[in-house]
Amino acid sequence: MNRLEELRRRHAAAEEGGGAERRERQHREGKLAVRERVELLLDEGTFEEFDKLVEHRCRDFGMDQQVIPGDGLVTGFGRINGRPAYVFAQDFTVFGGSLSETNALKICKVMDLALKTGAPVIGLNDSGGARIQEGVLSLGGYADIFLRNTLASGVIPQISAIMGPCAGGAVYSPAITDFVFMVADTSYMFVTGPDVIKTVTHEDVTKEELGGSMTHNAKSGVGHFIAANDTECVQMIRELLSFLPQNNREDPPRRASADPIDRADPELDRIVPAESNQPYDMKDVIHRVVDDADFFEVQQHFAKNIVVGFARLDGRPVGIVANQPAFLAGCLDINSSVKGARFVRFCDAFNIPIVTFEDVPGFLPGTDQEFGGIIRHGAKLLYAYAEATVPKITVITRKAYGGAYCVMGSKHLRTDVNLAWPTAEIAVMGAEGAVNIIYRRELVNGDAGARGDKIAEFNDRFASPFVAAERGFIDDVIEPRETRARIIRSLRMLETKVDTMPRKKHGNIPL
Ligand code: HXC
Repeated sequence: MNRLEELRRRHAAAEEGGGAERRERQHREGKLAVRERVELLLDEGTFEEFDKLVEHRCRDFGMDQQVIPGDGLVTGFGRINGRPAYVFAQDFTVFGGSLSETNALKICKVMDLALKTGAPVIGLNDSGGARIQEGVLSLGGYADIFLRNTLASGVIPQISAIMGPCAGGAVYSPAITDFVFMVADTSYMFVTGPDVIKTVTHEDVTKEELGGSMTHNAKSGVGHFIAANDTECVQMIRELLSFLPQNNREDPPRRASADPIDRADPELDRIVPAESNQPYDMKDVIHRVVDDADFFEVQQHFAKNIVVGFARLDGRPVGIVANQPAFLAGCLDINSSVKGARFVRFCDAFNIPIVTFEDVPGFLPGTDQEFGGIIRHGAKLLYAYAEATVPKITVITRKAYGGAYCVMGSKHLRTDVNLAWPTAEIAVMGAEGAVNIIYRRELVNGDAGARGDKIAEFNDRFASPFVAAERGFIDDVIEPRETRARIIRSLRMLETKVDTMPRKKHGNIPL
């Protein structure tokens, strides 16, 4: 066989992977084959594959009889929405997508290139973790990847898709990356699977309960997105990337918007109910304010009392953080604090301005929260807002009570523009609780009329935006209908903002 024929044979063998039968199993389970995924992820015809001829080096356990060019991993470079991107994708048909020493070298190669050239890296994971037959060589390979995940964190966007049963390193590497996508019914993440759990803790648990897409998107907070199938998953990745810069030295990509920058929305004047304890949906506010009502929500199913995600204003990507009065009254608890903090830090790392909509009655009280460390976790959100140097704009729509006032992008945490609607209530606590404490002695005999008067007096004086505005803690009290125009004008003003942190190796965020 001449060299050209040999090359063609090897390329064909790499594309064949673990064979038609295993590929057929992927399709039967509703999964795409590895190369189908890569093709759909990247702009058509842009994929340049690397290391298609790399083979594993294991000679134990009969592995020398099972050598497949490429070794079950597709890596390379292409374009997404016209911009460069690096990709690696595991082929479950080859040793369950498990990671060999040479697989790790291939992944490290694209990660190093991504870091040097300043482009995102996307991992399509479908893997049983470290390749058991290779022992420490595969473990070392994962550790080499973890190091690169960490070094690249905050420098280039790192996106992980979980597209099959993933265990061990195939979940720890994604955990270090910025966003984790899962696919309903076909993707699972666990440190170790149901069989081992049964042996160790005698618990009976299904794969779905233990590590299915809803478990990680609604309960653990490990996942950020759920797609209905593989095709939707890669399309969602493309959409997410459309909001992000290529690296931390670039601004996020602007695009023309036909939505008028001064569009007033009179509905916003009526959105906050007259009764202060009545809920409303903060997502309505977001949709009415941003360009074309287009909001790409992150962690939609987790800690629903805070809403985070990407949108555009004036064609410019922004990160939205919003309390959600329609869920747990929008209070801050452990999960919402962690969710908000991670999102704020991502935006700050990648030059994405942060727009906050605030309606928060305070931190959730109770032993569950205190024992779980709400003090430590709540502090994460405080820390994240305080350290962020990107343009920051906060709009208080209703409640801004207690510590939560300070946390949610207050002026004191160097937020650039703080606006309030006339319905804003800014105080140390709600009027009822406040009156019970400060007038305890006077109201000891329970004169309901006097108590009512005190509550009204308190509300009048403190539960309004005006005291804060008199102090300059709020830059202006605005009509809700003007919100979009005011935010956009502020963003334009802040376009040239420069702010810094004191010199340090790194801070010590309360983890
Ligand atoms: C080598 C593996 C493998 C592995 C799966 N296979 N995992 N080969 N190393 N880690 C192979 C199987 O032998 C099988 O080969 C094929 O992949 C498909 O696997 P199945 O078990 O048939 O598939 P399924 O029933 O869908 O189950 C998938 C699975 C399960 C849940 C991933 O295979 C599994 O539990 N694998 C082991 C997971 C694990 O404990 N990995 C080590 C993690 S330690 P054939 O030839 O039959 O097709 C780790 C360290 C990182 O990663 C450090 C973290 C900090």
